[in-house]
Amino acid sequence: MSNDKISSVLLENRVFPPPAEFAARARVNAARMAELRAAAEKDSVGFWADLARRELDWHTPFTVALDDSAAPNYRWFTDGRINVSYNCIDRHLAKRADKVAIRFEGEPGDVATLTYRQLHEETCRLANALKSLGIGKGDRVVIYLPMTPQAVIAMLACARIGAVHSVVFGGFSAQSVKDRVEDAGARLIITADGGHRGGAVVELKKAADEALAGGCPTVEKMIVYKRAGQPVDWKDGRDLWWHELTAKAAPQCEPEWVEAEHPLYLLYTSGSTGKPKGIQHSSAGYLLGAHQTTQWIFDLREDDVFWCTADVGWVTGHTYVCYGPLSNGTTIVMYEGGPMVPDAGRFWKICQDHKVSLFYTAPTAIRALMKMGEEIPARYDLSRLRVLGSVGEPINPEAWIWYYRVIGKEKLPIVDTWWQTETGAAMMSPLPGATTLKPGSCTQPIPGIFADIVDESGTPVTDPDHGGYLVITKPWPSMLRTIWGDNDRYIKTYWAHFNNRYYVAGDSAHRDADGCYWIMGRMDDVLKVAGHRLGTMEIESALVAHPRVAEAAVVGKPHDIKGEAIVAFVILRGHRPVGAEAEALVKELREFVSHTMGPIAKPDDIRFADNLPKTRSGKIMRRLLRSIARGEAITQDVSTLENPGIVAQLAGKA
Ligand code: WT7
Repeated sequence: MSNDKISSVLLENRVFPPPAEFAARARVNAARMAELRAAAEKDSVGFWADLARRELDWHTPFTVALDDSAAPNYRWFTDGRINVSYNCIDRHLAKRADKVAIRFEGEPGDVATLTYRQLHEETCRLANALKSLGIGKGDRVVIYLPMTPQAVIAMLACARIGAVHSVVFGGFSAQSVKDRVEDAGARLIITADGGHRGGAVVELKKAADEALAGGCPTVEKMIVYKRAGQPVDWKDGRDLWWHELTAKAAPQCEPEWVEAEHPLYLLYTSGSTGKPKGIQHSSAGYLLGAHQTTQWIFDLREDDVFWCTADVGWVTGHTYVCYGPLSNGTTIVMYEGGPMVPDAGRFWKICQDHKVSLFYTAPTAIRALMKMGEEIPARYDLSRLRVLGSVGEPINPEAWIWYYRVIGKEKLPIVDTWWQTETGAAMMSPLPGATTLKPGSCTQPIPGIFADIVDESGTPVTDPDHGGYLVITKPWPSMLRTIWGDNDRYIKTYWAHFNNRYYVAGDSAHRDADGCYWIMGRMDDVLKVAGHRLGTMEIESALVAHPRVAEAAVVGKPHDIKGEAIVAFVILRGHRPVGAEAEALVKELREFVSHTMGPIAKPDDIRFADNLPKTRSGKIMRRLLRSIARGEAITQDVSTLENPGIVAQLAGKA
């Protein structure tokens, strides 16, 4: 564990107690938080069961709160029946039918709003359309859409009929779509002709067509939403226009009341192998986590306008664009495009124009916007903002302070939320009316969540100067249920390390003397590039698929804006090129990875060598490669290397 890292974060030692006026009106103040904590401490299962009864609408109430008979495959609220779309829409219709559910802004500047009544109607129409195509409970549907309301409607329509959605991020390639469709065994894809992103049109249908041309035998139909209006290829009998299908469909659809544990969705994420894993979430437990954390962490009020900038292709978009806020009857903002179009004021202009009161984004966006200067946000009226959030990677104290000072005018609480695709909902975060903030720390577990830091033997680390494995010590409702089709991998990845005693998050962290947690980074071969999770092995497999590449090793190195940048060490078949030939091949390989995985996985730096540093047993020494990538002095013992001479070459010195 790096003690340098611990001392560097601890240099930022200012603390920010909740503003008095905020605390006075907050849903949860310090006293209430202490009460909630005490209740959860006494009986964590009863604590969640009580919330599940009070906060969710059930068709059949549950009597079993937690079934741990197959632990670590925990099951919550097992004999209850529920429908997630009912909880996100129908239950609001009595009081909020005309309240805006979604305010949408497209990248070109077009705006649209949908009330809860309209969201209900659109969801029912699509649900009926899906049923008319023979899609029903348990069928998998892949959603590959831009950030328009149709993405949310598609998710809710699946939930309404008990179909299991798997959203694939629009920035992923055809190959990624194919891998996910095939692993999930999807029967249908919902896509769009194109979406606007970064001033260009992302041709989603084209990529979906390419995915299906290369395999995907289980896919029967493709529903296409017309967004960008550019021409598309059409396969009669397979492809169907969203607008034509839904125009014919009835605007009412009885929800399918599913078991609490019925899978709501699969979401693929990277791990330490070359194959992304389909994280499987439940219906009721997941919804409870999404619902309750949105309410507590953002201090939700009836008149709030909530904008989470994440794409629905990531878990943040599932939980804090769609399910959490809608389950609370909140007005959400959805924005289709990039933060720099037409300029770096776009986010702040959206906050102003749509009267955003709760704003939730990623450190990478904050750092990028921070670089553009304070004058830009100063042009916009940000006076409606109440709470600022951060998610996806550690926020460095400098970016935290900028966010606090320039966007929050030194008045707004910042909630730095730590969680994962696997956890379903935020796990550690300040509650804005209760918690004293520390820039760079996600502070403490929310009530009902129990975390710890343990050493290799599983013993809790109490010394604040030492880090260890971040673990969750009790099951929680929104936890992943399994990895789709691979329960062994579920147990191996998250539980086996400490004999099924703890959920192992894969992060290292330390806890300071006040009990606040500081995330130090991943312990596995997972990178966080601009907040996106990428497996080094996946990028390596993408590289070796190129005919010229014999072997590749990928590591991360720190990057000012993206947090981490991708560095690939590549061993070629045949000669090692230099000069212009090397440059051309670097360009080709970067494009090749971008095409295989999507532009977010494009390596920032590719270096050719004759060999990789390996131990005599053949293991690549990644730590050594990391030091070389960062240009650090080599302090590791290289005497165990099969080929010690390679170090100089990799470092560019031979
Ligand atoms: C990994 C999970 C959180 C949902 C979106 C990303 C890192 C996430 C924080 C934070 C420090 C963070 C961790 C975690 N991470 N939030 N507030 N502070 N690190 O979900 O793609 O599944 O990635 O993101 O390393 O394990 P994900």
